[in-house]
Amino acid sequence: MASTKTILRALAGETLKTPPVWMMRQAGRYLPEYKATRAQAGDFLSLCYTPDLAAEVTLQPIRRYGFDAAILFADILLLPQALGADLWFITGEGPRLSTISSGDDLAKLKGTDGIHETLGPIYETVSILTNELPKETTLIGFAGAPWTVATYMIAGRGTPDQAPAHALRTEDPETFDALMDMITEGTISYLSHQIEAGAEVVKLFDSWAGSLKGDAFTRYALEPAKKIISTLKAKHPNVPIIAFPREAGDGYVGFAKATGADCVAIDNSVSADWAAQNVQSDGCVQGNLDPSHMITGGDELISETKRIVKAFSGGPHIFNLGHGITPEADPENVHLMLDAIRNP
Ligand code: CP3
Repeated sequence: MASTKTILRALAGETLKTPPVWMMRQAGRYLPEYKATRAQAGDFLSLCYTPDLAAEVTLQPIRRYGFDAAILFADILLLPQALGADLWFITGEGPRLSTISSGDDLAKLKGTDGIHETLGPIYETVSILTNELPKETTLIGFAGAPWTVATYMIAGRGTPDQAPAHALRTEDPETFDALMDMITEGTISYLSHQIEAGAEVVKLFDSWAGSLKGDAFTRYALEPAKKIISTLKAKHPNVPIIAFPREAGDGYVGFAKATGADCVAIDNSVSADWAAQNVQSDGCVQGNLDPSHMITGGDELISETKRIVKAFSGGPHIFNLGHGITPEADPENVHLMLDAIRNP
């Protein structure tokens, strides 16, 4: 039977009169209720690993705004931790990990065998959500794509240009490829477990895909996505997959066909008109309002929202931001965006 959930209908290729909507980082520091639950947990990682509290923050934006999808509250860096990397977060700065710069560093990791011992609480969060979400809300699970996860594991932190990862892939391709294979295998297993616990859709975040050019984009963004998607599809043929090769530019064209993704998420560095012409022609797209409008609001937020809805109105579309909502955003602006989408 065809689904009644709007996100699943769009992902199956249906053009809806009103696009379904959710927001990247919809559970986050712009919401006072998120900050309160995070304080209760003590710190960000404890929040991720405490199923009741992680489920609570996943539900907060659904209660406040009635989004069409909830995204599991977790982080792409939990997999590296499960693989054996040290991970911690510095408030106001971001993540820190033990670094990988040689085959010796890689050999110190535990590998993929034991990852579910660490990741068990995440699957428990998924099961709780399966029971607690409103019946019209779709639950999205996620993981980082291998390149993006590798950039953090190699540098030990976020980097503006991913230079340490580019250096390792050119100077020690053997170690780099072995790391990519380990992450790819772990990601397949991690996402399978999320699906088995109740995730209805999964999304692969390749936040740093934009720094891969030409053949390197094919080899390290497209090929791993294809491997992950084809393996998941063989096991779970009915679970749609959203791929987000952020800032891929021309690399967005044909990405869904080449990888088997059901939907490509588009960042806000490309225009909606261009993406409608060149990407939506292959199927569902998600995107792509500039998150800075959630800070500035006003008429420009409303007119930009309407412009994006119109640009993608000729095909299947899930409305989203081009990247995550930021802590400075005004929660009231989310209502303005939703009104502009739902009551045009
Ligand atoms: O979207 C959601 O609401 C679901 C939860 C989610 C988080 N991170 C929670 C989070 C998701 C899907 C992610 C993905 C993620 N994590 C990505 C890919 C998407 C993107 O933003 O490009 C990346 C690169 C990470 C790694 C990461 N986690 C960084 C670089 C940071 C620090 C930057 C920051 O915003 O603080 C995090 C921390 C993080 N992950 C927070 C949240 C809500 C903030 C932590 C806090 O409460 O202090």
